[in-house]
Amino acid sequence: MVKICCIGAGYVGGPTMAVIALKCPSIEVSVVDISVSRITAWNSDQLPIYEPGLDDVVKRCRGKNLFFSAEVEKHVSEADIIFVSVNTPTKTRGLGAGKAADLTYWESAARMIADVSKNDKIVVEKSTVPVKTAEAIEKILTHNSKGINYQILSNPEFLAEGTAIQDLFHPDRVLIGGRDTPQGQKAIQALKEVYAHWVPEDRIICTNLWSAELSKLAANAFLAQRISSVNAMSALCEATGADVTQVANAVGKDARIGPKFLNASVGFGGSCFQKDIFNLIYICECNGLPEVANYWKQVIKVNDYQKSRFVNRIVSSMFNTVSGKKIAILGFAFKKDTGDTRETPAIDVCKGLLGDNAHLSIYDPQVTQEQIQKDLSMEKFDWDHPTHLQPMSPYGTKQVNVVWDAYEATKGAHGLCILTEWDEFKTLDFKMIYDNMQKPAFVFDGRNIVDAEKLREIGFIVYSIGKPLDAWLNDMPAVA
Ligand code: NAD
Ligand code: UDX
Repeated sequence: MVKICCIGAGYVGGPTMAVIALKCPSIEVSVVDISVSRITAWNSDQLPIYEPGLDDVVKRCRGKNLFFSAEVEKHVSEADIIFVSVNTPTKTRGLGAGKAADLTYWESAARMIADVSKNDKIVVEKSTVPVKTAEAIEKILTHNSKGINYQILSNPEFLAEGTAIQDLFHPDRVLIGGRDTPQGQKAIQALKEVYAHWVPEDRIICTNLWSAELSKLAANAFLAQRISSVNAMSALCEATGADVTQVANAVGKDARIGPKFLNASVGFGGSCFQKDIFNLIYICECNGLPEVANYWKQVIKVNDYQKSRFVNRIVSSMFNTVSGKKIAILGFAFKKDTGDTRETPAIDVCKGLLGDNAHLSIYDPQVTQEQIQKDLSMEKFDWDHPTHLQPMSPYGTKQVNVVWDAYEATKGAHGLCILTEWDEFKTLDFKMIYDNMQKPAFVFDGRNIVDAEKLREIGFIVYSIGKPLDAWLNDMPAVA
């Protein structure tokens, strides 16, 4: 029986290995992590991450051919194929701070593999890493190898949170990069055979190592660039009376452009886009390509602009101050169907409003009060000036209230902001909400999910990203 071990039981390691176990009953899969609490949660009824369909997959395989364990070394030493799916965040200090990927976790995993291995191994980069990381990993492994043969493969993951299980069941492609040597090709073939249990062969792409590593950064940069492009257009739409949904629809009908990923929003979030673009920027700078680096920087700058533009719109609409006013925040996760708040635009929007002394009443169906308080009390890392953190102006304990119901959040509020596109927000009883709010009552829809016309009929003043402004908003000072 082939044995697979995955180091890192996070948003990628957990779901990916659960699907491999489900689709390959003849393979024994262990997922290991240094976080004992995370492993305990994977072994419980309350999984550590919320992902539609994940519970079912885990329940079907756990204890049969899928195991979660904190005995990292034991499982690594027994495995034939080791996936490394540890976190690779942006460095916050030292050389490359603010842009370069922090490979501390990766390096420590690689050193541990070298220490405990007794037979030949295929080591698979599942984490998103800078191009050429495989070379560094090879050096760590072979310098400590005791005669063991290691083949390094790059097999980046393209799943998106909220749809992880479906993405894993039906991937657009599986990418495997390896060395162009007989052993390298043999290792590629071994990994290909794992995926071939359920992925059609024409969707399994094999490349050299560097192409695979770079393709992952490139794909995320292209996706984020589309969002920044449509968000840049949304600002122009508001200034001109065009409607960003109509523009995106017309543009996306061009088969060369395509309709997906053109939803204007309050900004993209998540643990990947910003981090991976920073990573790309840093690699460009290190390779003497400042013009290319600057091109990608604009994607992040437009995203930051979109978030601050949203805050400015709220404040300027409400007579240029939100001081002492109650603002309901509906949605805190970076997208629907996940409880993940990493780099969520809600953090920036909430901090912007708190900076103007607003009182926030926050509701998200999947994010805990503890997580929201933690996110809002952390200082923001200033990527453009990484030597200093932007100090967080302290807010009073009464300024943030986390509640477990959208109606509770909006009771007595002056304004309501939708920051995550949860389906349940589309079907709220807005008449009841309106009746319980202060007047004039404002809705700021950062995801364009509510029917603005219906809300206006109820009496709300409504702002929708990139849509023609109603008379009230048009009369307020311009927003930059
Ligand atoms: P995560 O933080 O959820 O999980 C990483 C896990 O690795 C943590 O549980 C941590 O405790 C563990 N870990 C760190 N060092 C370890 C070590 N030495 N030994 C054992 N365990 C260790 O991260 P994630 O979101 O799963 O992302 C993992 C990688 O996958 C990142 O490189 C990320 O860029 C990439 N990725 C993420 C997504 C996503 O949607 N989250 C999608 C594609 C790719
Ligand atoms: C992304 C990539 O899609 C995935 O392939 C990669 O493996 C990891 O990074 P993820 O961050 O989980 O996945 O979610 P994604 O659906 O890409 O959304 C990212 C952010 O962009 C979210 O905040 C989302 O709300 C926002 N978004 C997405 C928009 O604002 N508009 C869109 O049209 C699409």
